[in-house]
Amino acid sequence: MISEQPVTSPFLASLNAIILRLPGKLRKPKVGIICGSGLGGLVDALRETVTIPYDTIPGFAQSSVSGHNSSLAFGIIGAGEGVPVVAMLGRFHPYEGHKLSTVVYPVRVIAKLGVTDLIVTNASGALNPDLAVGTIVVIHDHLALPNLTGMNPLLGPLISPEHPRFLAVSDAYSTSLRRLVFHASHELHLDNDVLAEGVYAWVSGPTYESPAEGRFLRNAGADVVGMSTVPEVVAARQEGLNVLALSLVTNAVVIPDKYRSIKEEVRDEIMGKSIELPVSEVVSHEEVLTIGREKGNVMRQLVERVIEMLPHN
Ligand code: HPA
Repeated sequence: MISEQPVTSPFLASLNAIILRLPGKLRKPKVGIICGSGLGGLVDALRETVTIPYDTIPGFAQSSVSGHNSSLAFGIIGAGEGVPVVAMLGRFHPYEGHKLSTVVYPVRVIAKLGVTDLIVTNASGALNPDLAVGTIVVIHDHLALPNLTGMNPLLGPLISPEHPRFLAVSDAYSTSLRRLVFHASHELHLDNDVLAEGVYAWVSGPTYESPAEGRFLRNAGADVVGMSTVPEVVAARQEGLNVLALSLVTNAVVIPDKYRSIKEEVRDEIMGKSIELPVSEVVSHEEVLTIGREKGNVMRQLVERVIEMLPHN
């Protein structure tokens, strides 16, 4: 019989390594922020910042993706006394070779530090043709094929009796936090089309989607697709955190409406007809990072305002 003993982990060592480096007012962050590709500029919203590199925290891995840093930044956001927060500059992805338990480990650690609300940001490709590059999509649901097919972050022994195994994710994305972000956008006088709402498809990557895969995800009901976020959201919900997830559309997923038949093209060529070669479209990581940097400022303003608007308790 498989025993369901609590898993031993270096939680205490991780917590000690963090707490000993923080002044008292930063030791109990209320809000956690995960910075997605090219969105590390969110750290500029912090003051009195203390940065702790991942390689000095037991149990933390290293992010090997360009555009991702590898440290936790603690600081204060907002006017007056402000709100103590912790930002993950750099996250871990299964495609780097990390186990899912490693990917979600920082979320579990920051939950233990006292974080109650988690704001997750990411870069994504648009499946929905109505979503222009640069739009920030407020995620209200996810479509996670890996979760359904044996790559669920909660697979494995129970972490503790307090962590539910059969976790509901129908309410994973907090309605009140989603309301706050639209109010924040209004207060910041942002254009109406800066923010949209949608369903995020999580894929393992690291390949971008083939046209057939993109079409499949779109037909299955997803608006954007990316290679992160869902594992952290699932772990955060298991830890009892409220979650807001914001996805910056950095590119359109290449889904041509019609297949360009090579058979017909060659036939036309043989018959001496002139043929027009289509421009080939591909997605690149550089494109993703560039849009992240360009629009990172809007993301930063929104995150900052949402945190200021959070009810104080
Ligand atoms: N697909 C998957 N992940 C992504 C994309 C994409 O097109 N863009 C940014 N992250």
